[in-house]
Amino acid sequence: MKKITEKNLYEAFRGESEAHMRYLIYGEQAESRGLVNTARLFRSIAFAEYVHARNHLELLEDIGDTGKNLSRSIRGEQYELEEMYPAFDLVAKMHQDHDSVQSIHYAIEAEKNHALLYGEASRALAAGRDYHGAPIHICPACGSTAAGERARACPVCGQPGQAFIQF
Ligand SMILES: [Fe+2]
Ligand SMILES: [Fe+2]
Repeated sequence: MKKITEKNLYEAFRGESEAHMRYLIYGEQAESRGLVNTARLFRSIAFAEYVHARNHLELLEDIGDTGKNLSRSIRGEQYELEEMYPAFDLVAKMHQDHDSVQSIHYAIEAEKNHALLYGEASRALAAGRDYHGAPIHICPACGSTAAGERARACPVCGQPGQAFIQF
């Protein structure tokens, strides 16, 4: 593949990824207004954008084996946790933008566990095993992430545990 096409496909991958996420969120918004078919349209096109993003990434040969994918995911989570969000946090605090500080705080708290959980899966894989089967709970309000028993309330934002989405 030519360098310019490689660069273009990465840009397209980022654009399709963003569109995928936006359309899922727009679908939720439409659903909350009772516009079920508009929501369905958003979700269907979100899926098409996912297919495009995946096709581009495959062509770029940027999908490794599971071990490589876990290492890359750990590095990404650590970057967000140790470099990106702490810097964003300082800037938002400097401007006394409390809502943004809170949104950044929610992300930092979750990224800590993302890096740890991927680390556990990576060590299990190195020992020839799959990640353990404990359920993983995500808080729908702040994204806090925990494996194991459902907590009674979110330790980060206080949302009741019954609201957690289980995977
Ligand atoms: Fe994360
Ligand atoms: Fe939460």
